[in-house]
Amino acid sequence: MIKALRGMEDIFAEKAELYMKIIATCRKVAENFSYSYVETPKLEESKLFIRSVGESSDIVGKEMYRFIDKGENDVCLRPEGTAGLVRAFIEHKLDRIGAVERFYYFGSMFRYEKPQKGRLREFHQFGLECFCEASVYEDANIILLAAEIFKRLGIKNILKINSLALKSTRELYKEKLGSFLENVELCEDCQRRSKTNPLRVFDCKNEACQEKLKEAPFLSDNLDEESKKDFELLQKLLKENGLSFEIDKKLVRGLDYYSKTAFEFTSDEIGSQSAICGGGRYDDLVEELGGKSCAGVGFGIGIERLMEILSLKEEKKERKGLYICVLDEAYLPQAFALAQKERAKNKVLLSYDIKKISKQIAYADKKGFLEFLCLGEDEIKKSEARAKNLETKEEKIYTF
Ligand code: HAM
Repeated sequence: MIKALRGMEDIFAEKAELYMKIIATCRKVAENFSYSYVETPKLEESKLFIRSVGESSDIVGKEMYRFIDKGENDVCLRPEGTAGLVRAFIEHKLDRIGAVERFYYFGSMFRYEKPQKGRLREFHQFGLECFCEASVYEDANIILLAAEIFKRLGIKNILKINSLALKSTRELYKEKLGSFLENVELCEDCQRRSKTNPLRVFDCKNEACQEKLKEAPFLSDNLDEESKKDFELLQKLLKENGLSFEIDKKLVRGLDYYSKTAFEFTSDEIGSQSAICGGGRYDDLVEELGGKSCAGVGFGIGIERLMEILSLKEEKKERKGLYICVLDEAYLPQAFALAQKERAKNKVLLSYDIKKISKQIAYADKKGFLEFLCLGEDEIKKSEARAKNLETKEEKIYTF
C-alpha cells in the first residue's frame, strides 16, 4: 500500500469541514480589515528563502524541501508565505508605486521538521501582509485582526509581544549579546548559533540554556528611540482596544527578517506546539530582496493547530440539507428532477441505492442532514412528499 509521506496528512470529512470553517472565518475578518486575496506559487528559487528567512534560521539550516529541478534550477517548496509575496510585490513593481497594499493568502507550507502532534511537514497557514505602511497603528491593527479571528472561532489565547528594534540597533546589540555569550556555557547548537546569529540562542528549547539566558542583556531594554516610541504606542493601542498581552523579552521569532514589532499568539490547549500565530514587522525585507525600500508587517496562523483545538472542543455540528431516497428504481427520474430543483436553494443529496429506509435514515443522520424524504408509490401518484426534520421531527411538504 502506498501511504502519505511522514508528516503529511489527508484532510477528510469533519477535518475538511473544520478547515473550510477556519479559512472562511479568517477570510471574512481579513476582508473586513480591507485585506484582499492573493495567491503565489508554492515552489520558488531557494535563494529567495535563504536571503529572507536567513541562513542562521532552523528553517533554512535544516528544514527546506530543496532540490534541483529538471532545468537545473535550485528550487524549494515554500516553508512560509512572506518571502514569496515580497518577491511578487517587487516583481509586479508595486514597490515603485509605493501605495499601501494589504494581501491575505492561505495554503500549504513545507518544513522538514520532526513530525509530532501539531507539527507537520506539510501544514497550512492563513497569512497576511501589509506593504508600504510604516505606522505602528497597522501593527496594532493586524494583532487585533488575529484576535478577532480567534474570538470568532472561540479559541482562548495568550498574546506575547516584543520589539526587535531597528537593524542598526540590532547589530550593536548582537555584539553585546555575543560578548555575554562568550562567558556562558551553552549547548552545541547554541554555540553554533552564537557565532552565526546570537539572537537565535533565545529559540533554544534546552531548559539549561534558557536558565542561563535569564541574565542575558535583552534587545527590548536596548531599543533605539524610534522603536521604543513605536513599542510604547503599540502597547497603548492594544490596551485601549481591550487586548491584554505579555511582554516576552526572549521572543525573537525563528525567522531573520523581523525588525521592531514581533508577536506570537499561543494556546495552552495543544501541548508543546503552542504557537498558533506568529508575525511582526519587516521593514528591511523588500529592499534586501532587491526592491525599493518599503515597510512590511504581517502574520501567519497555523491552521492545523486551530483544527486541533477546535476538534478537542467537539463542537455540536449544525444540521443542514435535504436527503432524498426512493423505494424503487422506477421513481429515480422524479427524485432526480426534485433534487435538481431544490439545489437552487438548498444542499441536497439523492441516494441512487435501493435499501432499507432505516439504513437510509441512519446514513442521512450520520452525514448531518436536516431533512429526510423518501419517494414511494403514494408520493409519485400525488406528486408530493413529506420530508421529516431529523432534529425536530416536524414534517414539510415538497411537491414535484
Ligand atoms: P512562523 O511563526 O514560522 O511564521 O509560522 C506561523 C505559524 O505557522 C506558527 O505560529 C504555527 O502555528 C504554524 N506552524 C509553523 N510550523 C508548523 C509546522 N511544522 N506544523 C504545523 N504548524 C506550523 C511565519 O511563517 C511567518 N511567515 C509569519 C509572518 C507573516 N510574519 C510576517 N508575516
